[in-house]
Amino acid sequence: MSAPTFSERLVRWQKAHGRHHLPWQVRHPYNVWLSEIMLQQTQVATVLDYYPRFVARFPTVRSLAEAGQDEVLSLWAGLGYYSRARNLHKAAKQVVNDFGGEFPESREGLEKLCGVGRSTAAAIAAFAFLQRETILDGNVKRVLCRVFARDGNPSDKKFEQELWDLAESLLPHSSEAMPAYTQGLMDLGATVCKRTKPLCTQCPMEDICEAKAQNRIAELPRKKSPPKVHTLPLYWLVLRNPKGEVWLEKRPPKGIWGGLYCVPCFEALEDMYRYAEKFTDCSDGLNEALPLTHRLTHRLLLITPFTAVACSNRPSENRSDGLWVAEQDLPDYGLPKPLENYFSKPALY
Ligand code: ADE
Repeated sequence: MSAPTFSERLVRWQKAHGRHHLPWQVRHPYNVWLSEIMLQQTQVATVLDYYPRFVARFPTVRSLAEAGQDEVLSLWAGLGYYSRARNLHKAAKQVVNDFGGEFPESREGLEKLCGVGRSTAAAIAAFAFLQRETILDGNVKRVLCRVFARDGNPSDKKFEQELWDLAESLLPHSSEAMPAYTQGLMDLGATVCKRTKPLCTQCPMEDICEAKAQNRIAELPRKKSPPKVHTLPLYWLVLRNPKGEVWLEKRPPKGIWGGLYCVPCFEALEDMYRYAEKFTDCSDGLNEALPLTHRLTHRLLLITPFTAVACSNRPSENRSDGLWVAEQDLPDYGLPKPLENYFSKPALY
């Protein structure tokens, strides 16, 4: 009998040792798509918390398409990378308006949706439509670089293409095997072939793994050069009116926390003072709190909150982009994570 292939080993291992019963392991493209977008930059444990609430509120792609952006963003608040939520909402409208309410079944069709790249499109095509398409995310690249001892710079386009070609060549012949195979790739990368301290003795590929045979597990895959992180100082103005309500403004659609509600936020301290002067009796009524930091992919935000009491009724509710909110209602507004932390742990600041 011939030795089992990569895909046969993986499918058998997934069935015995992989992750099952995750709430999005269903054949419905809406659920698969939603979970894959949430899982793009977020851990399974966190998504397990957000996904059920999101599906309870938006059970169908139509209900999501018809929702207002504010509600979508507030259910997303805390998951980070808010462009994902804006793209998700746009993609739901695309499905309804451009595809008659049904998700495209091909990987190429799925790639037309906002926020869906090749690997995500392949995951949806494989899980929901049993298409023979391969995923290739960071975890899968690690598995392939090790099992097949591929040595290259993962940021290099040519090397990446080689990995796509290799991944395609490994697909199972049977479409029916695609969900278990795809989940197997994800599970193996996440739980066994981990970046540090991989559990090689539990790996179904141990005896064919070339990196293992060459004693190069720690060296492969080659490390990407780390992104340059720039520090961005920001100043928050936490204005309270005499009733103790907090002034929130909707942020512009693009950029950091795009579309979320936040306290007035400034890159220049002078701009914050100028703004504060208009709404407080005197700008020396400003109290500077301890700074807090928040890491984004390429930026480290260094945020200094200032608190002040506003003169009554100013800023005015008539402004369409802002409103006064009672402290206990703040969680309903889908605030940026560091602002949510600020309000939940005021004693620290
Ligand atoms: N990461 C990305 N997609 C996933 C999925 N479907 N299950 C578990 N982890 C994932």
